[in-house]
Amino acid sequence: MEHRLTWKEATRRALYGAEGFYRRPEGPAGHFRTSVHASPLFARALADLAAAAGLAAVVDVGAGRGELLVALRRIAPHLELIGVDVADRPEALPPSIAWGPEVPEGGDALLVANEWLDNVPADVAQVDEHGVPRLVEVDVRTGREELGAAVHGDDARWLDRWWPLLGAEPGARAEIGTTRDAAWARAIERLGRGVAVAIDYGHLGGERPPYGSLTGYRQGRQVPPVPDGTCDVTCHVAMDAVAAAGEAAGARGTVLTTQRRALRALGVDGRRPPYELARTDPARYLAGLRDAGEAGELTASGGLGDFHWLAQGVGMDVPIALR
Ligand SMILES: C[S@@+](CC[C@H](N)C(=O)[O-])C[C@H]1O[C@@H](n2cnc3c(N)ncnc32)[C@H](O)[C@@H]1O
Repeated sequence: MEHRLTWKEATRRALYGAEGFYRRPEGPAGHFRTSVHASPLFARALADLAAAAGLAAVVDVGAGRGELLVALRRIAPHLELIGVDVADRPEALPPSIAWGPEVPEGGDALLVANEWLDNVPADVAQVDEHGVPRLVEVDVRTGREELGAAVHGDDARWLDRWWPLLGAEPGARAEIGTTRDAAWARAIERLGRGVAVAIDYGHLGGERPPYGSLTGYRQGRQVPPVPDGTCDVTCHVAMDAVAAAGEAAGARGTVLTTQRRALRALGVDGRRPPYELARTDPARYLAGLRDAGEAGELTASGGLGDFHWLAQGVGMDVPIALR
């Protein structure tokens, strides 16, 4: 058994191997909280987006344990719902929700990928003392790193275009987005017609993190990224590169925005109910207060509100609300 691997291969085994982190019974929700877990308002906004696009199906890619789909089933019982994940179908998933390992080919749908692409394994490049970007290799038992071969081929071309390391000081790092771009392009190609939305923590050219963003999560805490299957291993997504890959795969009308702007455009505004309502309809007042708190979390600066939303049309336009 090889212990020193590049980050892409080490992450692939650690997350998706037979004993991988994403195959554990507790699921992603046992380790971190996404917008899906924060509030049903997130599902409502996506149901509204599907309605605005005139789409009757939602495909959730990287569906975790199906939490978003279960929320959508309650909010919009008429929608056809399909979960896509490398993990097996969750036992408790209602039978009316379909599940599989691949985006179904050729359907009409709103395709949603919340916090999927950051978990698509990526290689890491680091500039050596001669200024050469080299692939970082990691000991899967300890997380100890060493520099391996020089980055070449598609990976080198990707760095030149999206995250140039020319002239960067030794130690500067970049996460190579080729695998994320390819995963998104494949999802776009398989969608017959619809709107595809990737929602993730990410960055755009000009604001990449100089030492990268690779990290781990375990039971709600950020931990060093040791690819031994006991923690999540993740890094932020180069959303502009993913957008270009989507366009090259046939998508059009790219919208790149923040979750804060997108959710506000879809009616999640976080306004508190008028105080007067406390007297006339206390139950509605309390529900309004709860919604305002949850909307605040979904749109918070320094938190979920800063997430990027990439929306692209496939054979149709992105609804005007998002543009
Ligand atoms: C961080 S979790 C997000 C779960 C859920 N979308 C949420 O927001 O709570 C990422 C999910 O993506 C899944 N995943 C990763 N790569 C995948 C692939 N190539 N195809 C399908 N699912 C994948 C993982 O198994 C995991 O359930």
